Amino acid sequence: MAVIAFAQSKGGAGKTTACVTLAGELCRQASESGIQITLIDTDPNQHSAGWAKKKGCPSNLILIEKSTEDTVLDDIETASSQTQFVLVDLEGTANFAVTQAISRADLVIVPCQGSEDDATEAARTIGLIRKQGRLLARKIPCCILLTRTSAAIQTRLLKLIKQDFLDSGVHILNSSLIDREAFRAVRSYGGTVNNLDPALVSGIDKAASNAKAYANDVKRMLLEANNG
Ligand SMILES: Nc1ncnc2c1ncn2[C@@H]1O[C@H](COP(=O)(O)OP(=O)(O)O)[C@@H](O)[C@H]1O
Ligand SMILES: [Mg+2]
Repeated sequence: MAVIAFAQSKGGAGKTTACVTLAGELCRQASESGIQITLIDTDPNQHSAGWAKKKGCPSNLILIEKSTEDTVLDDIETASSQTQFVLVDLEGTANFAVTQAISRADLVIVPCQGSEDDATEAARTIGLIRKQGRLLARKIPCCILLTRTSAAIQTRLLKLIKQDFLDSGVHILNSSLIDREAFRAVRSYGGTVNNLDPALVSGIDKAASNAKAYANDVKRMLLEANNG
């Protein structure tokens, strides 16, 4: 019943990776309780749908592929009435499907890498979310998710980007998604980071604990948004 949309007008910022990682981890956490998660792919490239169709996809994940601006509202409403979490992966642009998904979201996650282009487009996307909120006279909870960060260092540029967001009252999710081979590998091999073959991929444990912390931060933010 929580709708989480992944929006960022720049392509390649990490929307699909963030969406697939959250979907996998939520499915893993929910597997014993019978809770289901829906993944709606509205991007014409259908990259998250591609992942969900691969072998090893969690059995409690329901995929709605090829969602368009004509169907996305119906898709979100149907999925919300049937599953606990609805994740909507969006195209890297500001089209009508994006604004509709934002308008229905309980949380919009805006992935952003430590680069000027990503930060500019993330700020634009936050502006769009705020405008949609004004149109609907409701606050649409949103946050920046820093992606492809370094495990070792925080660059000066990343510090500057973070400070700019904080100065404009934009929430930054506590966990970032670190640049790890495992997050890329999941998109190729399918399944979740926990199920990757350690003989083929390095850093699985670290990626798995990163995915867990990220999903827990998202759940916490949803709770806070619900209570306040
Ligand atoms: N945390 C990460 N670690 C490693 N690679 C990543 C990570 N996030 C994104 N990538 C890689 O960056 C590229 C763009 O990411 P993607 O999630 O497809 O962006 P978007 O959906 O916003 O276009 C992909 O090749 C993906 O594998
Ligand atoms: Mg994508």
